[in-house]
Amino acid sequence: MLNKKSVDDINVKGKKVLVRCDFNVPLQEGRITDENRLVAALPTIQKLVKDGGRIILCSHLGKPKGEPKPELSLAPVAKRLGELLGQEVKFAADPEVVGPNAKAAVEAMQDGDVILLENTRYRAEETKNGEAFSKELASLCDVFVNDAFGTAHRAHCSNVGVTEYVDTAVVGYLMQKEIDFLGNAVNNPQRPFVAILGGSKVSSKISVINNLLDKVDTLIIGGGMAYTFMKAQGEEVGKSLLEPDYIDYANDMLKKAEEKGVKLLIPVDTVIADDFSNDANFKTVGRGEIPADWQGLDIGEKTRELYAEAIQDAKTVVWNGPMGAFEMPNFAKGTEAIAKALADIDATTIIGGGDSAAAVNQLGYGDKMTHISTGGGASLEFLEGKELPGVVAANDR
Ligand code: 3PG
Repeated sequence: MLNKKSVDDINVKGKKVLVRCDFNVPLQEGRITDENRLVAALPTIQKLVKDGGRIILCSHLGKPKGEPKPELSLAPVAKRLGELLGQEVKFAADPEVVGPNAKAAVEAMQDGDVILLENTRYRAEETKNGEAFSKELASLCDVFVNDAFGTAHRAHCSNVGVTEYVDTAVVGYLMQKEIDFLGNAVNNPQRPFVAILGGSKVSSKISVINNLLDKVDTLIIGGGMAYTFMKAQGEEVGKSLLEPDYIDYANDMLKKAEEKGVKLLIPVDTVIADDFSNDANFKTVGRGEIPADWQGLDIGEKTRELYAEAIQDAKTVVWNGPMGAFEMPNFAKGTEAIAKALADIDATTIIGGGDSAAAVNQLGYGDKMTHISTGGGASLEFLEGKELPGVVAANDR
C-alpha cells in the first residue's frame, strides 16, 4: 500500500512551494481544447494559496526536444489557469526555464501568489533527469509538491531529480487521488472486481492483462485487441486489426484465466465494415463470420448485452481502452454501452486515462464515474503493477 506524505502534512505559510503539474494539454492555434488536466490541478493549488504559500507551478508541454518552441510555450496555460483560479497566474517567460524572469518573479512573490514557469522540456537535461537543471529547480523553492500523475511514469528533473535537492517532497491532492484509485483500489478491491480492456493493440497491454488476471474476477476484452484473441480461438477475422506475433500470448492468457477461475470474455458478435470510414457499409456478424475483405470496428449488440450483464453486479470496475473506433459514430455503440453500463451501477468505477477518458467525457458520462485518471501512459503502467518513479520519489509517511 502506497502511503506518501501529502500537502495536508506540511505547513507552507510564507514558503516558496514548487508544484509539478501535468499541464500537457492539447492545443490548437494557442487554444486549449481539453482543460481537464487544468481543472484537476486546481484543488492542490487552491489549498496552497489558502495556506499562504508562494506557489511556483511547473510542467512540460509536448515534446520540444530540449529547445524553446514558441508553439509549445505554457503561456496559454497561465492565462486559462488564472481564469479558472480567479487570480493572476504570472507567467515567467524564460527560454532556459529557471532564468532571470523566473528568479525575479519568485523574488517578488507575496504569500498566496501563483506563478508558472516555462515548459520544462525547453531544457535538454529535463528528460535525462540531469543534475544541473534539477538543482536549479530546487533552488527556487523551500518545498516541492508533485501533483503530476500523468508524468509519474517518467524520471525527469522536474518530478524526480529535483526531489534529491529539497528537504520536503510531498504529493498533491490529484496525485493522492490517482494513487488511491489506480493503486490501492486495484490492489485491494471490493469484489466482484471487473476489468475492461480495449484499445487497438494487445502488444501495448501485455503486462496489464497479465497483472490484472491475478486480481480480477472477470476480464472483458474489446476493441482492436479482441481480434488477436478471436484468432487465438481459431476464428477468421478478415482485415481486422491483428497482431500475429501475439496470438500465442493471447492463448496463454486464455489458459491463465481458466486456471485462475477468472471469467475472460471476448466478443460473440462484431460490427464489421468494408472500409475504415464512418461512411463505409457496415453490418453485424457472429463469431468466425468476418469475411476476408471486411474488418471489425466495434463489438456487436449481443456482446454489448453480455458485457453490460457481466458488469452489473461488480463492486469495482477498471476500464482502459475503447471497445471500437468510437471516434466514428457508426462504431461508437460498444464504447457507449460500456460507459452507460458503468454509469448505471453502484460500484467504484475507475477510468484509465487517454482514449477511454476522452471517450467517457465525449459521450457525456464523465460525471457518473468515480474516478477518471489524468494519466494515459502513467495509468497503464500503474495497472501493470509497476512502481512509478514520480510516485516513489515523494517522501513516505
Ligand atoms: C501524457 O500526456 O501522457 C503525459 O503528460 C506524459 O507525456 P509524455 O508521454 O510526452 O512524456
